[in-house]
Parts: sequence; C-alpha cells; structure tokens
Amino acid sequence: MRIALLGGAGYLGAVASHYLAALGHHVTAVDGLIYLRDDDPHRLLPTAAQFVHADLRDPAALRRACVDADAVVHLGGLVGEPACAVDEQLAVELNYASPVLAAEAAASTDVPHYVFFSSCSVYGSHEGTVDEDTTTNPLGIYARTKVLAERRIAAIMTDDQSLTVLRLATVHGRSPRQRLDSVVNRMTARAVATGRIPLNGGAQRRPLVHVSDVAGVLAAVLRTPQGHRTFNVGADRENFTIAEIAETVEAAVPGARIDRGPERDEADARDYRTSFARLADAFPDLSSTPLEDGVRAIAQAVAAKELGDPDLPEYDNHKGLIVSLSRGRIQALGSPDCQRLHTEYATATWSAR
Ligand SMILES: NC(=O)c1ccc[n+]([C@@H]2O[C@H](COP(=O)([O-])OP(=O)(O)OC[C@H]3O[C@@H](n4cnc5c(N)ncnc54)[C@H](O)[C@@H]3O)[C@@H](O)[C@H]2O)c1
Repeated sequence: MRIALLGGAGYLGAVASHYLAALGHHVTAVDGLIYLRDDDPHRLLPTAAQFVHADLRDPAALRRACVDADAVVHLGGLVGEPACAVDEQLAVELNYASPVLAAEAAASTDVPHYVFFSSCSVYGSHEGTVDEDTTTNPLGIYARTKVLAERRIAAIMTDDQSLTVLRLATVHGRSPRQRLDSVVNRMTARAVATGRIPLNGGAQRRPLVHVSDVAGVLAAVLRTPQGHRTFNVGADRENFTIAEIAETVEAAVPGARIDRGPERDEADARDYRTSFARLADAFPDLSSTPLEDGVRAIAQAVAAKELGDPDLPEYDNHKGLIVSLSRGRIQALGSPDCQRLHTEYATATWSAR
C-alpha cells in the first residue's frame, strides 16, 4: 500500500514510518521539520521511506502527496495546549486548516482512505467513563481545533471514501524523534536526571498508550478501511491517575523519590476515564504495552545518555516552538486558504456533540 504520512517525521510519525515500512508498505513522510534544527530527517526514518520537505498548509504540496496514495494519514499538528497557547492563529492553521486542506485534497484526488490523528483531549473533564459517543468537552485551543477538524473533515470526505479518526490517549515510549514533554516521558526523564518526581495533587485520570501500539493500531485500520469511523486509541487497563503514573516511575527508576505537594491552580484540568472497547472489539488481536515498559525504555535512554538534557527545547514542543518562532522557522501564514478556514473555525461551535 502507498501511504502518505503527513507529519511523518514527528514523534509518532517516525515510529509509524518504521512500523509500516517493515510491513512492506511504501511510505512517504511529508514534514516541514518545524522543531528540528539542522538534523537529517533520513536519520529518523527507515531507509525504504521517502521524505518530502513541505508545509502541510500548502494545498499544492498536499495534492502532490495525495496523488496515487492508497491512504493519507494526517499526524502533523501543533500538539498540546501549552504549544497551542503560544500563538492561537498558528494553532488554528496547523490543527484545523492543515487537516481540512488535506481532506479537501484527498477528496478531490479520490484517495480511498484518510486517517486523522485526533486526541482523547476532546473529552476534557467528565464524570464516569467516556467513549466515542460521549459529548466532547474541549477545555482549550488544542482540543477545540481537534474537535472542529474532526467534524469538518467528516463533512468533506465522500461516502465512497473511508475516514478513520483516531482519538489517542497520551502517548509514551521511545521514538527516533523523541518527545519528553508528555506526562510519562517527562516524569521519567526528570526522575533519572534529578532523582525527584514532583507531584502536585495527581488525582486527575489520564489514559495512556505506548507509541508502538499506536503504530500497530494505524496499521490495523489501514488494512481494513470501512466507512466513516472513530476510535479511542489505548487500552482500558492503561487508565491511570497522575499519582499512579508517578508511583510507577518511582518503582522503575532506582533511587528516585516522589516529592508530594499541594494541587496547583494552573494544573492541567483534563480528567476522564476512557473506554477503548470499540477498538478492542474491532481489533481483538492488538497488543497493549504496559506503562512500565515505556517508563523503563525512557529511563534507560536517559541514563545511557542516548538522550541529551531532558530540558532541551528539541524534546519539548512548547519550548521548541518558541525557538522555531524566534528563528522564523514557522509562523502563521495568513494565506487566503488559511484565512478562509480561520474564519470558518472562529464562527463554528463545538458544544452539541
Ligand atoms: N503524542 C501524543 O501524546 C499525542 C496524543 C494525542 C494525539 N496526538 C496527535 O498525534 C499527532 C502526532 O503527534 P506527535 O506527538 O507525533 O507530534 P510531533 O510534534 O512530534 O509531530 C508533528 C510533526 O508534524 C510536523 N508539522 C506540524 N505542522 C506542520 C506543517 N504545517 N507543515 C509541515 N510539517 C508540520 C512537525 O514538524 C512534526 O514533525 C498529532 O496530530 C497529535 O495531535 C499525539
């Protein structure tokens, strides 16, 4: 299968490229490398993969990526609320305009299957357990751009094309393009580097998923295109509180100790338990890597100095974005297409689903 991975040199994209290439698929990773300094993208990708340097807001580049592709996967975006809060216009361009433009390109070139990477963040804060039919409750710019992109893409893709929306749990584990800014990876890297695990409160629940398992889910949905469908991506037993994650890290990192403090006002308010039953029913043979494995792999990489200082901007989308903006590596374009979609985004509502 010919697969275009938009954002294919990112944390998830690099792992997915290796996974899909190993299965014999022809992978083209399209990425603007908005965070990396002067790194060679080929270092991140399998030798069998093609790399195309392009901006995912460029309709002509998106069209080129779609032509002859059996599937287009959009996993390029601005990830997480801290990075999105730096520049809301840029966040809307990368997280709403780009996937919508990619859907328009996929629809006009008759790509059989479009896969959009969304997030369980769309659920925000909820009592009880959320599933794919639960009303979304986006708490910030990141979640709102994802909810609205999901809906707009569904309206663009024709009934003859398949659309799969993957709402990912928070991802952990090793990647050739490492991120250390999500909860598990950050806690683990800091625990190794400093011996301390700061924990303020920690009662919020957070579903987790290992990065390789995400690649496995992507391969499975690509094998079985089918109408328009949405899956939460993770596993029921990988729902944890932040405090439980800290305890797992403490157990896995020799000498590290939790520093307990009061809940902080600025703490991330996302709090939900997630059902992954739909995914498990559709794909009963998928593997689910336990949290401990992801923690151990990060801890070993930091201890062995395979990864540099965990505080470096290259491991953190928020810090990395600020560096990239200051160097003019990325900015809001304000192109006619981006303006059109910005207006659409600004006037859309997200409450009734
Ligand atoms: N990592 C997680 O915990 C997580 C959780 C839920 C959802 N997701 C979703 O999965 C997807 C991938 O996440 P990730 O962790 O790999 O992020 P990442 O930041 O590591 O990768 C995103 C990639 O997209 C590229 N990119 C972004 N905008 C671009 C543009 N306009 N033009 C060209 N390239 C562009 C970046 O250069 C980067 O390589 C995202 O859509 C994210 O919202 C991730």
